[in-house]
Amino acid sequence: MRKIIFATGNKNKAKEIHEILKDLDFEIQTMKEAGINIDIVEDGTTFAENSMIKARSVFKALPKELKGKVYVMADDSGLAIDYLNGEPGIYSARYMGEDTSYDIKNQNLINRLDGVKKEDRGARFVCAISCICPNGEEKSVEGTIEGYIGWEIAGENGFGYDPIFYVDEYGCSTAQMTAEQKNAISHRGKALRAMREELMKYENISG
Ligand code: IMP
Repeated sequence: MRKIIFATGNKNKAKEIHEILKDLDFEIQTMKEAGINIDIVEDGTTFAENSMIKARSVFKALPKELKGKVYVMADDSGLAIDYLNGEPGIYSARYMGEDTSYDIKNQNLINRLDGVKKEDRGARFVCAISCICPNGEEKSVEGTIEGYIGWEIAGENGFGYDPIFYVDEYGCSTAQMTAEQKNAISHRGKALRAMREELMKYENISG
């Protein structure tokens, strides 16, 4: 069975990619589960650069027995708000400090958009996924979901900025959607499905 080492400590992300790739017979492991413990400096200027920096770092750190045998995958994601020139962008996790609660971060962003009309509140979630194939070939994909920043925090599902990110066609925030609804339209779902296509091409799987 082919193995993918995912450059994250986040088990939920590994679960999500497992869900989307489950019929392809790939085993998914987090880098921790594969025994790789490295600190990665994400000093890129785009989501795509940061995801590739993570993938390359883990690829380099692969133990001898895994070199040439496994895929390494990494993602980088965040929220970009048009009115704030793309903030918080690649700094989404670090915005106002890693330890600041999302209630505070979300209220701060709503406050910064005080008085701004709906048509100027546009925002998107972006997810870049980079993959290094067993032979060293590099692949990158990106998925986005368009929405706007609401006037209030709403919903208990999801995480991060979901309670302030509203999608017109659903008339609610992504924190008010079920996981299935969100995965079907989300930036991460789209990027993962695009990466699935790339993996199928590499493995010569049709479908
Ligand atoms: P990372 O991709 O793990 O570096 O996380 C980026 C950050 O972007 C997260 O900590 C969240 O603040 C934000 N983010 C990314 N995707 C989502 C999402 O689907 N909902 C809400 N916030 C998100």
